[in-house]
Amino acid sequence: MSWWEKLTGRDAGTTAAVPRPVRPRPPQATGVREDPAGSALPRFRASAVDQLDSRRGSGASGARVRLRDAFTPSQPVVDPHMFAGRAALLTTLIRAIEDQKLHVVLYGDRGIGKTSMLHVLARQATEARYLVRYASCGEETSFGDLFRSVAADVPLLFHADYKPTSDAIEKGATLADLLPAGEVTPRQVSDQFARLQGTRLLIILDEFDRSPAGDFRRQVAELIKTLSDRSVRVQLVIAGVAANLTELLEHIPSIRRNIVGLPVTSMTREEVGTLIRNGERASGLTYADEAVEIITSLAAGSPYLAGLLGQHAGLAAIDRDSLVVEPQDARLAIRRSCDEIVNRISERSRIAIAQNEAAWDALALMALAALQRGGRFGGDVLAPLESDAQVQDAVMQHAAEANLIERIEADPAGQFRFIEEGVPTYLWMAQAARRLSIN
Ligand SMILES: Nc1ncnc2c1ncn2[C@@H]1O[C@H](COP(=O)(O)OP(=O)(O)OP(=O)(O)O)[C@@H](O)[C@H]1O
Ligand SMILES: [Mg+2]
Repeated sequence: MSWWEKLTGRDAGTTAAVPRPVRPRPPQATGVREDPAGSALPRFRASAVDQLDSRRGSGASGARVRLRDAFTPSQPVVDPHMFAGRAALLTTLIRAIEDQKLHVVLYGDRGIGKTSMLHVLARQATEARYLVRYASCGEETSFGDLFRSVAADVPLLFHADYKPTSDAIEKGATLADLLPAGEVTPRQVSDQFARLQGTRLLIILDEFDRSPAGDFRRQVAELIKTLSDRSVRVQLVIAGVAANLTELLEHIPSIRRNIVGLPVTSMTREEVGTLIRNGERASGLTYADEAVEIITSLAAGSPYLAGLLGQHAGLAAIDRDSLVVEPQDARLAIRRSCDEIVNRISERSRIAIAQNEAAWDALALMALAALQRGGRFGGDVLAPLESDAQVQDAVMQHAAEANLIERIEADPAGQFRFIEEGVPTYLWMAQAARRLSIN
């Protein structure tokens, strides 16, 4: 059994499980209808009217529309019915907020499911009558603007100093009206939040890694500190791309006791399986067990990859005029996903990968480790290929010289990470596509 077969759980000896090459199909077989007027131009496949209501439209066109909602690789999950697994993490998150009254920092790789988790959390908290305010950070985010807009969503009805019958409440005034004009400090925000009664406010700050380092992050840390010191009814949930807590939130030492850091890690095989089965139910297609097995193996715990492969596989089945997704569709999905992902990485990385063809097997192992271990890995990941530690080191060094990976600064274990974030996903899919043409 080769290292690839061991990793993907497929045995080269059983023909049913071995991916076969997929030959390009003539255009009409890919589901692009021929133009009755004889023009060879590609056409839209589903009616826009059907797309207004995903339940409308029968057969292939309805399935195609439903499939786009069933798997949303480019968007976070919003519908709780489509949210797979993560029960333990959600429980921990809710307990930290509800019982421990802590502020939470959720961190993990890009596309691992942080925003989806935040959407579900927001929903559960709203159901429990929390006031929930979700905000996405960006390079331009300023502390004053952000918290002024959060305060603008809190009616004065919840302010201890205002009677329900007061004029200001009847006029729809909010906490923002009590903040001074101009710059706002964490202390001023916290002074107003301290007067909150009759509810709890949950402020979700997503994409925190994109917020400006320096002042903004220092002020957020200061706010957390002042809120915690005064046991105020306001909690923050911060999420962003990072390998650890410190990487995401500067000024950690001052607030370490008041926050809990929760990593969002790769999904288990069962969770990925649930994700596919949820998509199956929502799309109305049937995914053959073996197709689910291929997708689950190659998703490597990434909900993004699972959704991408699930969607492409479903579309491939519909293109064959079938409502049953077979292994051949899953294999075609690998190629199509690979073609899609390659456009998301830089020319520089693409050239470096192409120039290091001899190291592709090793690079694929590094990519898999990066996907499954939060981006960090050491030479030991090459064990399925090479047991000699010195040779492993040399291969890592070679990949570093090719500017694909780099040693993580001050990492006690001397681990590496990929320099460009989309590269491990591409390498892993590209390896899968290559294996298809070999077998
Ligand atoms: N629990 C889940 N169940 C089903 N699909 C999920 C789940 N979590 C994430 N996904 C899917 O995975 C992809 C990435 O999810 P999401 O956008 O939530 O990740 P993220 O960590 O916020 O990414 P980024 O770092 O880019 O902001 C999306 O396609 C989403 O639909
Ligand atoms: Mg996100």
